Amino acid sequence: MAEKKWILMVSLAFIMVMSPLSSRIMESAQVQHLNMGELASLVLGKFQFWATVDNGGEKKTVESRAIGPNMTACHHSYGRPDLLVYCCPPGFEKSVPFVDFELPEPPSPVKVRRPAHLLDESFIVKYNKALSIMKSLPYDDPRSFARQAELHCQFCTGAYEQLNYSDTPVNIHRTWLFFPWHRMMIYFHERILGSLIGDDSFALPFWAWDIPESMPMPDYYVDENSAFFHTERDFSHFPPRVADLDYTTDQNHPHRSNDEQIDVNLKFMYTQMVSGARKTELFMGCTYRANDGYCDTTGTVEHAPHNTLHTWLGSSLNPGREDMGKFYSAAKDPIFYAHHSNIDRLWEAWRKINNRRLDITDPDWLDSFFFFYDENLKLVKIKVRDVLDITKLGYSFEEVDHPWLNHRPPPSVPPKQARQMLKLKENKNQVFVPDFRPDGRVLDGSFTVKVFRPAKRESKEEEEETIVVYGIEVKGNDYVKFDVYVNLSDETKMNPKFREFAGTFAHIPGGGAAMKKKMKLRLGVSELLKDLEADEDESIWVTVSPATVSCSNVSIEGIKIEYIE
Ligand code: C2O
Repeated sequence: MAEKKWILMVSLAFIMVMSPLSSRIMESAQVQHLNMGELASLVLGKFQFWATVDNGGEKKTVESRAIGPNMTACHHSYGRPDLLVYCCPPGFEKSVPFVDFELPEPPSPVKVRRPAHLLDESFIVKYNKALSIMKSLPYDDPRSFARQAELHCQFCTGAYEQLNYSDTPVNIHRTWLFFPWHRMMIYFHERILGSLIGDDSFALPFWAWDIPESMPMPDYYVDENSAFFHTERDFSHFPPRVADLDYTTDQNHPHRSNDEQIDVNLKFMYTQMVSGARKTELFMGCTYRANDGYCDTTGTVEHAPHNTLHTWLGSSLNPGREDMGKFYSAAKDPIFYAHHSNIDRLWEAWRKINNRRLDITDPDWLDSFFFFYDENLKLVKIKVRDVLDITKLGYSFEEVDHPWLNHRPPPSVPPKQARQMLKLKENKNQVFVPDFRPDGRVLDGSFTVKVFRPAKRESKEEEEETIVVYGIEVKGNDYVKFDVYVNLSDETKMNPKFREFAGTFAHIPGGGAAMKKKMKLRLGVSELLKDLEADEDESIWVTVSPATVSCSNVSIEGIKIEYIE
């Protein structure tokens, strides 16, 4: 206790000395570079921690391991590993009253989210007006566009610690909170936009980049005279260019024609949504509980198209391809909301494909909670369990086709022939053992390993075979992406439009120290192995192929096969 008081006094003295600087940091809510800012934030962090305890903050008595932020202790955080930012909301130095979430009164009419490429002019005018008003609100209004954007920054950079666990940050990416948190965020965003123009039927459009007609960025986002325009984007990706759902930043990457890109996108979607996502954690990402250190596996769609499109949209002139290319800045771009409206729709699509059998029922997930301001400026505490029924939330998605459902990729080479070619390679010593511990293997070039499948098992229909790339360590600040192929015999066929493609690791660094832990990539391959006629083999060949030059900052410890019940 004596020690706590001592730290408190030193902190206070330091803060007083620093106060001109720190208050400027607090007010400006802007990006600060490392140096004095970092020092001040460390001290502020300590101060807030002790203050919370001295104020009789809640004790560690909670049984549940649901995650939630300690709202009174927001602090500086890393937007990029080399960039300190401050995106905390003002006014939370002491606790702020909140209400528990209540479902909206059954609305009439239901808000129908429509595909962005089918909007009529009058809707675009209306949305433009709502967004312009939102952008003109002052920063201290939590409904303002700037504050909406900061919400995303807070939860992707580790600006909050978990309630009752003062040294464990909250992070909503790369975890099972990815889908529900973003649903909450755009739910409130949508309601605020509607209330600003007095229209309770207002619904956020979705950019359906998974259907061919709308793969280019919707036109209204590139209208310079609208509120949808944003300068920090990659202009070479403007329409009519089709979005690359499997995007890698490198210039030497083959530039595909639009038709070719559409074909690749649809087959890629099939792997990410269907064959690679047949178990809950493959799609949702790993379990993440309070005080749990960190969850290390990202879901298929979060890697790509989610991360890949963030990168595709951001400006190549900025160090982290800001704004969309980094999470601390992403929500400053209006297209973020149409992107996430589509992600939200794909979550529903996946639930439907699997008849909701794969929905998470774990109370730690269901009870995880966050706080958002609603359209009436009330602070609302909302739990994951509150957002699982979109009808009750008062919105729906206009039905569109899922053309990727029937784009199951074919093998690039007849499987028997492929096996012979691979055996030849193996004899020439071009195949390695799959364990690279203790030092790890740097991904500075593609390589193939032979992975043995665990001894023949009684066939269990429900089981999913997964390839696990483990001990992935990413150094540096750059976007990294590498791909995994199975029984790939011809390197020129390295393309997600072929069945040999098992999945991708597309990673946007950031999120503070806790995000530097080693990760795993887990890829569901049962259907793929059947299609490649390899489901009876005792081993498979796995090729890891770096897609970005920055993979020279990545090392992995090994590759193995595991089954998920
Ligand atoms: Cu929280 Cu699309 O990112």
